[in-house]
Amino acid sequence: MESLELPQMDPRVLKATSVKAEDPAASSPEPHALKITAASSNPKMFTLPWEKPLATWPEDLLANLPRGISRHVVRFVHVGDEVYAMKEITRNVAEREYELLRRLQKLELPTVQPIAVVTGRHSREGEPLEAILVTKHLKFSLPYRALFARNLRPDTAERMIDALAVLMVRLHLAGFYWGDVSLSNVLFLRDAYAFSAFLVDAETGDLQINLTEGQREYDVDLARTNIIGELMDLSSGSLLPSGVDEIAIGNRLVDRYHSLWSALTDTDKFGPDEMWKIEKRVNKLNELGFDVDELEMKTAGR
Ligand SMILES: Nc1ncnc2c1ncn2[C@@H]1O[C@H](COP(=O)(O)OP(=O)(O)O)[C@@H](O)[C@H]1O
Ligand SMILES: [Mg+2]
Repeated sequence: MESLELPQMDPRVLKATSVKAEDPAASSPEPHALKITAASSNPKMFTLPWEKPLATWPEDLLANLPRGISRHVVRFVHVGDEVYAMKEITRNVAEREYELLRRLQKLELPTVQPIAVVTGRHSREGEPLEAILVTKHLKFSLPYRALFARNLRPDTAERMIDALAVLMVRLHLAGFYWGDVSLSNVLFLRDAYAFSAFLVDAETGDLQINLTEGQREYDVDLARTNIIGELMDLSSGSLLPSGVDEIAIGNRLVDRYHSLWSALTDTDKFGPDEMWKIEKRVNKLNELGFDVDELEMKTAGR
């Protein structure tokens, strides 16, 4: 288990804000009995059939909502008045992702909300089962395939990419290296004029003090490659509006990301008598089509 995480570790992280270094659970033994780790308790969680593989949970517990492509078994489950997303994964990965999501939520970043990690699962016959990461189902969110299945506006792809660029810049400004950016790992919320994007899969991510340009560029480059592939896949299923150029959309992500990043981080400093510089920057962001309300503007430091 330990060795699974090592290749992803940046050596500096051990000295910095590594989840692994701070997480005492990472080296704790597998619990023998069912263990639900959560920030707040919900007694209904104990009534769920944890002794069954998630893929075999009874239909009447499940919520039939649009779900993206995933490597693992993921199900939406009614728990009282809430709907939770459950993902069956190894214990180390579940604990790591839970902790990362908690830290991202504390930084008020747009991600799904972690609810619990369930470990020590066993079948009736005593066979060990994988852990489950529980997050709150993000209401009204759509995975990208569902978005295209419902939305015939020709600029859907552009609006989606713009939202993803905002999400990536926000995560990178906070020091989050994603490592697995793709449309499948994002959820979209739609309002009248724009989409907003939420991170859903933090499994490969790492929260650091500062990202290097190389790390940011790796995320951007992988996003581009994955987006082009995912759009081509939509296109072969006739889900993409005709005339959409997959490669141009992939390149748009790179352009939007860089424009936004430099509009926010270019190093002209603001003096107290230079408020016009802030105004200029806000105007530049507006010209780029970004909603400045979405971003926290800092007047000092950058
Ligand atoms: N909290 C959530 N709210 C809404 N949808 C979710 C949530 N968690 C997961 N999903 C859906 O399940 C899919 C797979 O989840 P993900 O964490 O990416 O799994 P995997 O690690 O197997 O790729 C996502 O694309 C998303 O559509
Ligand atoms: Mg995923």
